[in-house]
Amino acid sequence: MQGKTVLITGASAGIGKRTAEKLAAVGTELILVARNKEKTEAVAAEIRSKNPGSQTHVFIADLSLPSEVLRVSKEILQSVPKLDVLLNNAGAFFAKKTMTREGHEATFALNHLSYFLLTNKLLPLLEKSPGARIVNTASQAHVGADIDFDNLQGERKYSGWKAYQVSKLENILFTYELANRLQSSGIPVTVNALHPGFVNSQFGENNSGFLGTALGIAKKMFAIDEDRGSETSFYLCTSKDLDGVTGKYFDECRLKTSSPQSRNVESQKILWEITEKILSPYL
Ligand SMILES: NC(=O)c1ccc[n+]([C@@H]2O[C@H](COP(=O)([O-])OP(=O)(O)OC[C@H]3O[C@@H](n4cnc5c(N)ncnc54)[C@H](OP(=O)(O)O)[C@@H]3O)[C@@H](O)[C@H]2O)c1
Repeated sequence: MQGKTVLITGASAGIGKRTAEKLAAVGTELILVARNKEKTEAVAAEIRSKNPGSQTHVFIADLSLPSEVLRVSKEILQSVPKLDVLLNNAGAFFAKKTMTREGHEATFALNHLSYFLLTNKLLPLLEKSPGARIVNTASQAHVGADIDFDNLQGERKYSGWKAYQVSKLENILFTYELANRLQSSGIPVTVNALHPGFVNSQFGENNSGFLGTALGIAKKMFAIDEDRGSETSFYLCTSKDLDGVTGKYFDECRLKTSSPQSRNVESQKILWEITEKILSPYL
């Protein structure tokens, strides 16, 4: 990974932070994107101190706001000369329906809209790097979820866990549709999705009440640590075995068949079109 540049969203904690540390240890230049300046600068400082000479840069944005995704992508395009891997990783679970100040339901905005918008904005930079990759952190939680295009943002009803499951289904639908579009346009950038495992990160800690507590207990009892939880992200960002591999879903560093709903080509296309409409002021 010497000479390669990887951008990681949600790099201030959890799986994103641990993946960044591993990438820095193998000589990767890093672009860390997260919303909390102090926390992200501290991660960058720790990485630099453990890896003298490491090139680690910080960009701050609340990725649940398309205006912020747009602003940060402009800043990145202006100051970063090349990008080899984009790891879309920032994500969260919102037990209670939360609307962002830009009028989007928070799960949909952070977990899906930010992946779509950041990827579309940074694609011209990725295209300049031979063998460039896009890696989308999804989840096995997508299994069993159905997408309801009339309730994408909880307009009719909202359940926090269902919204999270659907957002992770959206990550995979987006991955497959993007892979098809890139291939049919002859753009040699690959895109794959992954499940990191059930990881004892800070995931879910933004929620109080029963669901937040239950998730905290389940993580302590059953989850793997962040070191193991970052293996598949690191593998998808770095492995030579994946040169040219695109439009796939991985779990434990192995190919896995995602749910039938995620492989529904019509859903992939509809989600792309609806997302483009929602994000049209920013695209
Ligand atoms: N943990 C699991 O068991 C698990 C399982 C399957 C999939 N995943 C997926 O893995 C990804 C990473 O999750 P994690 O477990 O590492 O969670 P985490 O420990 O909570 O870390 C999430 C990261 O995303 C950042 N983030 C949250 N909201 C943001 C916003 N509005 N704008 C910018 N950055 C924001 C967080 O920043 P702050 O530090 O400011 O909060 C943090 O850096 C997510 O996509 C999640 O869906 C996790």
